Amino acid sequence: MVEQIRSRLLAPEARKISPLYSASQIATLCGVDKAHVNYRISKGDLPSGKLTPTGGKREFTLAEARQWTRTYRMEKMRPAGQRAICIAVANFKGGVSKTTSAMILAQGLSLRGHRVLAIDTDPQGSLTTLHGVLPEAEVTEEMTISPLCHGTSGDITPAIRSTYWDGIDLVAAAPFLFNAEFSLPARQMNAPGSRFWDVLNQGLEPVRDLYDVIVIDTPPALSYVTINGLWAADGIVVPVPPSGLDFASSAQFWSLLADLGGNLDSQEQAGVRKIFDFLHVLLSRVDQADAASPAVRQWIQATYGEFVLPVEIPKTSVTSNKAAEFATVYDVQKYDGSAKTYKRAVDAYDRFVDLIEESVVEAWRARRGAS
Ligand SMILES: Nc1ncnc2c1ncn2[C@@H]1O[C@H](COP(=O)(O)OP(=O)(O)OP(=O)(O)O)[C@@H](O)[C@H]1O
Ligand SMILES: [Mg+2]
Repeated sequence: MVEQIRSRLLAPEARKISPLYSASQIATLCGVDKAHVNYRISKGDLPSGKLTPTGGKREFTLAEARQWTRTYRMEKMRPAGQRAICIAVANFKGGVSKTTSAMILAQGLSLRGHRVLAIDTDPQGSLTTLHGVLPEAEVTEEMTISPLCHGTSGDITPAIRSTYWDGIDLVAAAPFLFNAEFSLPARQMNAPGSRFWDVLNQGLEPVRDLYDVIVIDTPPALSYVTINGLWAADGIVVPVPPSGLDFASSAQFWSLLADLGGNLDSQEQAGVRKIFDFLHVLLSRVDQADAASPAVRQWIQATYGEFVLPVEIPKTSVTSNKAAEFATVYDVQKYDGSAKTYKRAVDAYDRFVDLIEESVVEAWRARRGAS
C-alpha cells in the first residue's frame, strides 16, 4: 500500500525530483539583485539555466543553483583544512518535527552551496522516506549504520548513497536497525573496551573531510543509536513545539543529556571532555490559533534563554495537505494554496537554515582560531 501511495504521489516519474529555481530565487540566494544575475549570465562563466517553453522566464536546476551559491557565498563555505560540522537533531519526545527539521537543514544548507551528508539513525526511516527511498522495500543493511553497530565495519563510507537532491548524500535507515539496540550493549559486554557510544563518531572519521555539514536524524528515544548520534555531533538542535507536555519532556532531554555526558566523560581518558560548538532549541509547529502556546513559549524562553533560536516555525498546511510523508516545503515547485501561507512557512525555514549556517561558520572560525 505504501508503495502504491508513493508512486501516486510522485507520479509521473515514480521517483522524487528536485525543484527548479527562478532567476529571482537565484538572486536572493546569492544576495544580489536580478539585474546582476542577468549581467553575470551575459559573462558566460556560470550556468544560464533554461528558458521556459512559453519564453521569458529562466529556470535553473538545483545543481546549477548550487554552482551560483558556491560562487557568491564563498565566505560562508568550509575553509581549507577544516572538517565537516556534524549536527544532530534530537528530542526524546516523538512527533516534534525532528525529521522535518533535519531534512530542511540538509536541503537548505546544500542549496546554499554546502555538501551535506544526511544520516538516518531512526528505525522508522522517516528521513529515508523523505528522500524518496522506501525503508521496507529498498533499504539493505549495507546502506545503513547497521554494520558499524554490529562491529562488522568501522567506516561509514560503503553505506553512503547519492540522492535525488544534488548536494545531499544519504545513509539510510530501516526497521532492522532496531537490532542495534541489542548489538551495541552486547558488544560492550563481550569487549569492555569497545565504547558503545563512540561507534558512529569513529565511523564518520574517514568522511569528515569530504563533507561540509553532516546532519543526523535521531529516533524519539534515549536509545543506544541516539547516544551515538549525540556523541558524534558538534552541535545539537532540539525542536520543541510550544505545548506543555512537549516542554516538560524537552526539559528531561537536557537533564538526561547532562547525566549521560557526565558519565561518558568519566569513561574517557582523563581530561578529555565532550564539548559542543552549539546547542539550539527550535520553536517548532507553532500554532497561532492555540491559546495556550504564548504562555508555554514564555516558559521556553525563560528556561532556555539565549539557546532558543530567534525564529518560530509556524504550524503549516503547506506540506501536510499533500505528500506530507514524502516532501518538505523546499520540495514544493508550485504551491496551489494561499501564497501568503506558503511564503510564511518558507521564510521561517529559510531563517532557521540561515541561523544554523551562522553557527556552522562560527564553529569553523573558532576552530581556526584555536589551532
Ligand atoms: N511546521 C509544521 N506544520 C505542520 N505539520 C508539521 C510541521 N512540521 C512537521 N509537521 C508534521 O508533523 C509530523 C511529525 O513530524 P516529524 O516526522 O518531522 O517529527 P519527528 O519528531 O521526526 O517524529 P518522530 O518522533 O516520530 O521521529 C509529520 O507528519 C510532519 O509532516
Ligand atoms: Mg523522526
